[in-house]
Amino acid sequence: MAYATLLTEVEGAVALITLNRPEALNALNDQLMNELTEVLDSYEADPEIRCVILTGSTRAFAAGADIKAMRTQSYMDAYMGDFITRNWERAATFRKPIIAAVAGYALGGGCELAMMCDFIIAAENAQFGQPEITLGVMPGAGGTQRLTRFVGKSKAMEMCLTGRRIAAEEAERCGLVSRVVATDQLLTEAWEAARKVASMSLPITMMTKESVNAAYETSLSQGVMFERRLFHSMFATADQKEGMAAFVEKRPAAFRHE
Ligand code: CAA
Repeated sequence: MAYATLLTEVEGAVALITLNRPEALNALNDQLMNELTEVLDSYEADPEIRCVILTGSTRAFAAGADIKAMRTQSYMDAYMGDFITRNWERAATFRKPIIAAVAGYALGGGCELAMMCDFIIAAENAQFGQPEITLGVMPGAGGTQRLTRFVGKSKAMEMCLTGRRIAAEEAERCGLVSRVVATDQLLTEAWEAARKVASMSLPITMMTKESVNAAYETSLSQGVMFERRLFHSMFATADQKEGMAAFVEKRPAAFRHE
């Protein structure tokens, strides 16, 4: 399937989605978000895909929501058209593992989109920020909520209130990204991480993701109980039997994803 604003590539059980509006530093417009929703729908339905990488260019992961498309929007356009909710949240609801590989600018909606993914691998040249305040608005795709959970109140407040960008090193220090890699190694590292994830049992990686995400939605005791119930249910899978048998027999596991 060809898209106007995305490039896609599948190798084995890993799919790479590259945001591709270079003329606008991958600014996120309706067409791009519709296409991203569509391609994620197709990867979720495809049993052969077990991990997805979302990336941009070396210059920009994404420089935010498309300001030129938004600037004349009225309140009624935004409210009745269900702006953002309509087509921005598919990465956050995607059930399989999805890794953001971020180089260059990840600003506004770009930072928010990266935060919807399961973890972020950042290139040394990555810059994260929520500059919406400088445009007379505030983050509208989860920035005030996800950023605060990831980096804490003080840094999230400073970033949202001043628009200050943080570089990759600071992003790693405050827990926004899982690690920083050389810019020219970003995709190599992302593919390697994705292949590793894809080599595991798909239902188990999906449940693991669900359980980690529950930590953001529930109390500790409820979260631990949710984890415990999922953990118990894993003993009903063929892959648990295979994974543990492989360990005892000193051989690699051959998961069947069931
Ligand atoms: N929307 C639309 N177009 C954008 C854009 C955006 N978010 N970001 C960059 N572009 C366009 C520029 O207008 C420019 O196009 P032209 O050549 O037609 O003028 C092109 O991309 C290249 O950008 P610059 O010339 O500005 O490149 P630069 O290297 O000088 O600066 C930048 C790079 C610092 C990222 C700068 O482009 C910038 O500040 N962009 C806007 C960042 C921003 O404010 N993002 C938040 C958007 S609001 C939002 O995301 C709301 C939400 O929460 C959902």
